[in-house]
Formats: sequence, C-alpha cells, structure tokens
Amino acid sequence: MALTRIWGKDSMREQGAEGADGNARLTAAVGVVLLVALFVEGITILQVRQLITLHIFIGLVLIPLVALKFASTFYRFIRYYTNNPAYVRHGPPASLLRWTAPLLIIFTGALLATGVALLAVTPSRPGLILFAHKASFAIWFVLMAVHVLGHIKDAVVLSGWDWWPRADRARPRGKGQRRGLVVVSLVVGFALAVALLPIASPWTSRPIRHSGASQLGHPAVTIRDSSWP
Ligand code: HEM
Ligand code: HEM
Repeated sequence: MALTRIWGKDSMREQGAEGADGNARLTAAVGVVLLVALFVEGITILQVRQLITLHIFIGLVLIPLVALKFASTFYRFIRYYTNNPAYVRHGPPASLLRWTAPLLIIFTGALLATGVALLAVTPSRPGLILFAHKASFAIWFVLMAVHVLGHIKDAVVLSGWDWWPRADRARPRGKGQRRGLVVVSLVVGFALAVALLPIASPWTSRPIRHSGASQLGHPAVTIRDSSWP
C-alpha cells in the first residue's frame, strides 16, 4: 500500500489529501477494534454452547462497528470513482483485496443477518438459518483471513497515528471526530447488545446437552458444545 505516497512530507499539504488520509485512518482504526472483537468472537465459536451469551453479545456489538466500516469504505469508493484527486492518488486497494472486497461486504452482512435471524427462531427448530449462518461463516473466514493479512500492517500504523500519544504524523484535521465515531459505534453496539440479549433467552438459557454415562454415576459427560454438522 502506498503509505509513503500519501503521507510523504509534502503530500499532506496538497489540496484534499487530508480527507483521504483521515478516511484511511478511520477505516484502519475500526479495523483494529474489529480485529479484537472478532478474536473474542472466534474463541466463543470453539465452545459455542457454553459461551453462547458472549457469542451473541459480541456479535451484536459488532453491528455498528461493521456499519461504520461499510460507511468509511463506501465513502472512499465513491470519492475514488468520482475522481477526487486525493482519493485517486491514494489509489485502489491491491488487486486481490480490491476484487474480494465486495464479497467480504456481502458475507459479513450475511453472517450478521443470519446471526440476528437466529434470535427469531427457537434453538430446537433453527431450520436453514443456522446452516446459512455457519456456511456464511466458512466463506467469510477465508475472505477475512485474506483481508487481515493484506491490511494488518497498515491497520496498526494508520490507526496508531490517530490513537497513539504523540504519534499523529501529518495531523490531518478531524482526529477528534474519527475517534468519536469509533467510540460512539462501540457504545451503540454495547447498548444494542444489552437491549437485545433478553430476546436471545431461548438460546442463552438452554441447558447444555449431555449424553452418555459418567463413571461416577452422574448423568452426562459428553458435552456437545458444537453444532457443526
Ligand atoms: C467485518 C470485518 C471487516 C469488513 C467488512 C471490512 C471491510 C473493508 C473494506 C470493504 C475495505 C476497502 C477495500 C480494501 O481496502 O480492502 C477495507 C479496508 C481496510 N480494512 Fe477492513 N474490513 C473488516 C475488518 C478489518 C480488520 C479486522 C482489519 C485489521 C487488520 C481491517 C483493516 C483495514 C484497512 C487497514 C483497510 C484500508 C484502509 C485504507 O487504506 O483506506 N479491516 N475493509
Ligand atoms: C448478530 C450477531 C450474531 C448472533 C446473534 C449469533 C448467534 C448465533 C447462534 C444463536 C448460534 C447457534 C449456537 C448453537 O448452535 O448452539 C451461532 C452459531 C455460530 N455462530 Fe453466530 N451469531 C452472531 C454472529 C456471529 C459472528 C460474527 C460469527 C463469526 C465471526 C459467528 C459464527 C458462528 C459459528 C461458526 C456458529 C456455529 C458454531 C458451532 O455450531 O460450532 N456468529 N451464532
């Protein structure tokens, strides 16, 4: 990626460059927050039955953050294709990332939409929705791995410039707004999760299913903690 091209000594003075720089910093900062949240979400998947409350909570927290990511990247897309000089100079993403980006957006949407849809069905009859949730996850995971590998360095460097004390190279305006947008999406996500968690009670209050017989004579020891087929 063209970090040096955009954030070279003189480029920030060029008209409009601040907008593209600020947009990239915002996109990167949201990416870092998403990376942390998705890591925790990934851990819950390993024992989804036991950690279902956390799984649903983090999943709901993700929604406004993902919406912000969609918004910032859509804005860059529009500015680029309407020939804004700063965004044209910033350039498109690298080829593989560029062509997988629409799929990443579609499958992220599908993953979150099917997750929310699961809250409307009972655990005993999830029908095709659970299958769709898992299938979209499988495809999404591959796309996400490519995305993270392609962007991790830029994500750390760019977001660091806005968030790390005394690291704000080139000082594009709007640092406070960018930070504010990330914080507000996190707060809205937490509020959404707190508000919607009660309707997930058929999933969260479900007893963990056990089967088999224990050596001590207790019922149940083989915990079915995953519903992969
Ligand atoms: C649900 C998760 C995510 C979605 C839907 C998403 C979506 C996108 C899209 C559509 C783009 C523009 C195309 C591109 O440059 O590849 C983008 C850019 C970017 N993403 Fe993500 N992303 C997600 C998570 C992440 C994560 C976890 C990171 C951290 C490594 C990250 C870091 C970045 C960076 C650094 C850019 C480029 C910013 C720029 O230079 O303008 N993203 N993202
Ligand atoms: C709105 C957010 C989300 C909600 C409400 C939600 C809800 C659920 C529910 C109710 C289950 C069924 C658990 C069971 O079978 O006992 C599930 C499973 C699963 N979820 Fe989510 N989810 C959300 C987001 C996500 C995200 C963001 C990911 C991936 C990063 C994900 C990946 C999975 C996977 C892989 C399973 C199957 C786990 C297994 O059976 O082993 N979900 N989710």
